[in-house]
Amino acid sequence: MADDSVERLQQQFEAEAPSARTPAEIKALRDKWLGRKNGALTELVKSIASKQPAERQSLGAASNALKKLAEQILDAQLANALAAAPPRDALDVTLPARRPALGRRHPLTQVRERVEDIFMAMGYQVISGPEIEDDWHNFEALNMPAEHPARDMQDTLYLSSPVPVPDGGRAATLLRTHTSGMQIRYMEQHEPPVRIIAPGRVYRRDQFDATHTPMFTQVEGLVVDEGISLGDLKGTLNAFAEEFFDARVATRFRPSFFPYTEPSAELDVECQGCSGRGCHLCKHTGWIEILGCGMVHPAVFDAVGYDSTRFTGFAFGMGIERLALRLYGVDDIRMFYENDLRFLEQVSL
Ligand code: DAH
Repeated sequence: MADDSVERLQQQFEAEAPSARTPAEIKALRDKWLGRKNGALTELVKSIASKQPAERQSLGAASNALKKLAEQILDAQLANALAAAPPRDALDVTLPARRPALGRRHPLTQVRERVEDIFMAMGYQVISGPEIEDDWHNFEALNMPAEHPARDMQDTLYLSSPVPVPDGGRAATLLRTHTSGMQIRYMEQHEPPVRIIAPGRVYRRDQFDATHTPMFTQVEGLVVDEGISLGDLKGTLNAFAEEFFDARVATRFRPSFFPYTEPSAELDVECQGCSGRGCHLCKHTGWIEILGCGMVHPAVFDAVGYDSTRFTGFAFGMGIERLALRLYGVDDIRMFYENDLRFLEQVSL
């Protein structure tokens, strides 16, 4: 008799189960049959306790088996239902797609590549060399002998133990303070004509503040041939400034001094922040200094074995961070090194 009732319940359950198709319907069915409070099968199992001991065993086994069967059927149906149609509220196909977060090149890299592109279009070759440098390339061959006062212009980071450089065999003793040593390295290996730029990192014993970092980036330039004049220098750098700032910017060459050039100059461009009227970016002068340059000093040609009576040339060196600060109107150089994505996403060419 007891088994009869279990059997009836099973038939009833099996008749009802297939009609529950959606997750909600399946849940309702589960509540009805297996719900902890009033589920039909829960009640059935509970009722066993009040039965005669003789009945208990067979009824208990049968009703537990039915309960388990019901659970398996409901689980399987739910899995089917979810596979066939994911719940509506979990997937709204009308939502706009999420944009993948794309990376981009660092602003300093973008500026460096822009400089490279401009000079490559003018026929320059891009070269690079070691950041660990020796005295000869960084100072001496650039007309700055051991006691030369110009060496004070740059606070140098010397390495405590000399490191051998692969190509020259010389003991390297410092972190290069400028890329000008690349002029020497290139001329030692190549005969004129020369038309190169050399981008790279340089190091100085500077404090870390809004306008100084102990490491920054320069691009060196060098042109050597017969008959190269100051006019070539001015024409080239003016063309560069126009290309770089994408406008007819006013420029001015100010006389300056570098031991490796004679004459020497610094190139200023009209401040992009205020169009020359004066603002905090240009310290209210209306001009921004972007590079040092000059005609290669004959002593430099002598150091590399070029005939200084036959060849002339010009050289220049610019700071990439400076150009980037001007281009983006940023006034703290440290922003470029802090890797704050909010900043990096904002500044882009
Ligand atoms: N080396 C200089 C500096 O670090 C920049 C420079 C000036 C490079 C004049 C040159 C040059 O090639 O001719 O500030």
